[in-house]
Amino acid sequence: MILVTGAAGFIGANFVLDWFVERDEPVVNLDLLTYAGNLGNLASLRDDPRHVFVRGDIGDRTLVEGLLGRYRPRAIVNFAAESHVDRSIHGPAEFIATNVVGSFNLLDVAKAHWLALPDAEREAFRFLHVSTDEVYGSLGPGDPAFSETTPYAPNSPYSASKAASDHLVRAYHHTYGLPTLTSNCSNNYGPLQFPEKLIPLMIVNALAGKPLPVYGDGQNVRDWLYVGDHCSALRAVLDGGRPGETYNVGGNAEIRNLDVVHTLCRVLAECVPGRDFTQQIAFVKDRPGHDRRYAIDASKIRHELAWAPRETFATGLARTVRWYLDHRAWVDAVTSGEYQKWISLNYEAGASDPA
Ligand code: NAD
Ligand code: DAU
Repeated sequence: MILVTGAAGFIGANFVLDWFVERDEPVVNLDLLTYAGNLGNLASLRDDPRHVFVRGDIGDRTLVEGLLGRYRPRAIVNFAAESHVDRSIHGPAEFIATNVVGSFNLLDVAKAHWLALPDAEREAFRFLHVSTDEVYGSLGPGDPAFSETTPYAPNSPYSASKAASDHLVRAYHHTYGLPTLTSNCSNNYGPLQFPEKLIPLMIVNALAGKPLPVYGDGQNVRDWLYVGDHCSALRAVLDGGRPGETYNVGGNAEIRNLDVVHTLCRVLAECVPGRDFTQQIAFVKDRPGHDRRYAIDASKIRHELAWAPRETFATGLARTVRWYLDHRAWVDAVTSGEYQKWISLNYEAGASDPA
C-alpha cells in the first residue's frame, strides 16, 4: 500500500479517486482536516476497504512512526500543506509549521523506516514530495519557462515554505540516500478545489451574483493544468521517476488572469443563459509581492516518462464549470461558517480593498 498525506484536500482527493480507477493498491490517507480538508471529497470511498483514513498531523512523529510500522507502505506521497498564498501573507506561521517542520518530520521518520526495511523493500521504497512552480519566483514577459535547473527564488511565505521543504527533500536524498522524488507543478484547477483559489472563487461568486475580484491590473500570468493531468503526472513520477530527481509539471497553458475570468464568464453564460457575468468583474487592490508570471517547461517529464496533459484549458474549464454547477450542495457546505471569515478578512478589510 501507499501512504498519501493531505488527501482530503483538492489535489490529494483527486489523486486518491483517480488512483482507485487505475489501480487496486490500498491507500492510507493521513490528513489533519484543516479548513481545506474535507472528508466529503472522498464520500464515494466511505465503504471501500482499500481506503484507510487517519486524522492527524504530518508533524506528529509518534503517529507517523506508528502508521509506517503498522502499514509498511511501499511509498509516501506528500500533499499535506498549507497551500494558499493569500493566507500565507495574513498568517505565515502555519505554513512554516506544516510545510517546513511537518515535511521535515515526515522525511525523518520515513528515513528511519526505510533504513530498517529488508533489501528488496528498501530498494523499491519511494518518497514523493508534491511541490510547486512558485519556488522559482517570478518570470518577466520574455523569460524562458521554469526548468528543473532554474534557481530557486521564492517570493511569498507560502513559496518560501515549499522551497524549504524541497531543500530538505534534496538533502535527505543527498546525505542519507533516501529515494526521494519531487514534482514542481503549475496552477491546478478542477473538481473539489476549495473556493479560495482563483477559478473556483470566480465560479462561486459569479453564480451568487457577487463581485469577481481581480487583483491589480489582471495581467499576471499563470500556467494552468487540469487536476486529473497532475494526478497522471504524479503516478508517472512514482512509477518511473529516478530517485533524487525533480520533475516540472505544467499544462502549457499560459493565460493572463483577466483572460481566465473572461473565459470563465463566457463558459458560465453558455450554461446559465441570459446572464452577463462580465458585469461582475471588479478590480481590487493587488496581492502584496504578487508574482507576475509563471510558466513551466515540462520537457523532462515528457521525454523521460512519456507524460503529457490530456485536457486543454478549454476542455478542462468546461468540465470544471459543469462540476461546480452539478455540486451546489458541496459548494454550500464549504462556503458556510469559517469560509465567510476568510472572505471578509481578505476582500473586505485591509489587503484587498477595492482599488
Ligand atoms: P489543499 O489546501 O486543498 O489541501 C491540503 C490538505 O492538506 C488538506 O486536506 C489539509 O487538511 C491537509 N493538511 C494541512 N496541514 C496538514 C498537516 N499538518 N498534516 C496533515 N494534513 C494536513 O491543497 P492542494 O491545492 O490540494 O495542494 C496539495 C499540494 O500540492 C500542496 O503541497 C501544494 O503545495 C501542492 N501544489 C498545489 C498546486 C495548486 O494549484 N493547488 C499546484 C502545485 C502544487
Ligand atoms: O503555481 C502553483 C500554485 O498555484 C500552487 O502552489 C498554490 O498552492 C496555488 O494556490 C496556486 O497559487 P496562485 O497564487 O497562483 O493561485 P491563486 O488561485 O490564489 O491565484 C491565481 C492568480 O489569480 C494569481 O495571480 C492571483 C490572482 N487572483 C487570485 C484570487 C484568489 C485574483 O486576481 N483574485 C483572487 O481573488
